[in-house]
Amino acid sequence: MDGWGTGRETPSVSWVRIRLQRMLRSGPEACPCGARAEAGCNKLGISVPRIAIISDIHGNRVALEQVLRDCEVRNVDAIFCLGDVVGYGPEPSECLSLVRANCKLCIRGNHEDALLHPETMKGWNVVAKAGIAFARRTMSADALAFIGSLPSSFAISETILGVHDSPVPSEDGMSYLRTKQDAAEAFGWFSERFCVIGHTHVPSCFVTRVKTARDTIGLDDVDERPLTSNDGRSTVELPRLGRVIINPGSVGQPRDRDPRASYAVIDLGRSVLELHRVEYDVAEVLRRSLAVGLPIQVGERLAMGA
Ligand SMILES: [Fe+2]
Repeated sequence: MDGWGTGRETPSVSWVRIRLQRMLRSGPEACPCGARAEAGCNKLGISVPRIAIISDIHGNRVALEQVLRDCEVRNVDAIFCLGDVVGYGPEPSECLSLVRANCKLCIRGNHEDALLHPETMKGWNVVAKAGIAFARRTMSADALAFIGSLPSSFAISETILGVHDSPVPSEDGMSYLRTKQDAAEAFGWFSERFCVIGHTHVPSCFVTRVKTARDTIGLDDVDERPLTSNDGRSTVELPRLGRVIINPGSVGQPRDRDPRASYAVIDLGRSVLELHRVEYDVAEVLRRSLAVGLPIQVGERLAMGA
């Protein structure tokens, strides 16, 4: 399969820099294995052609259940989660249980960090803080311990790097990758063929023909591939040479004015990216949010996709 398991370049100063940065963010690298996500296991060796990437579920169980059903219909071989399972929504525990049961691996997002380290919520709005306070009140010690064990990145067969926000390190540990300029900088910080990210809640896809992280990458080297999905599905042909940054959008709180849940499938055999949008019962999530005392803005935001 093209690009799968190809050899690494000779280690260089920049490569060592990337590895060191990743170790600082994730702890020491674990041994490759195909086991379900558990503590410290963030380097997998798998050979499956269709990989679903989900992110930013935010306690929205109704949306997650619909997305998991959709993954089944679309013959996905494995599901990977990019974090922010909790926060905002009314069912963080249930979402975490579904992720543990259905995903090969999950990494920590900034909302998981906030759950464990409330001091990181400086500057957050009241709605975001309310979601974390609710999760902390209602999640079990086992669930919190599991969240504490999650890595902050993963690598799949040295082909796909997964991070919550961006491969570019930032002082507060969280940055937004939204534009071609952001992507050009980010391509300098990883060597895998694919980097999958979440955090913005907006689906996006950037490609470059530049093959290694060591090259200087300018705006002219980066293309953004539009992900239009009026009929619920968008397909993008991925270059077999070069590298790609993919954001699957958000399962539980889309912010691109489309309220449907969003997730991506990378078909490694056909070298194709599929973006899927899935309808779910937003009014039911609003009912559940109000029933547990969360602010009404949670449901209003879901209805607008904002
Ligand atoms: Fe998020």
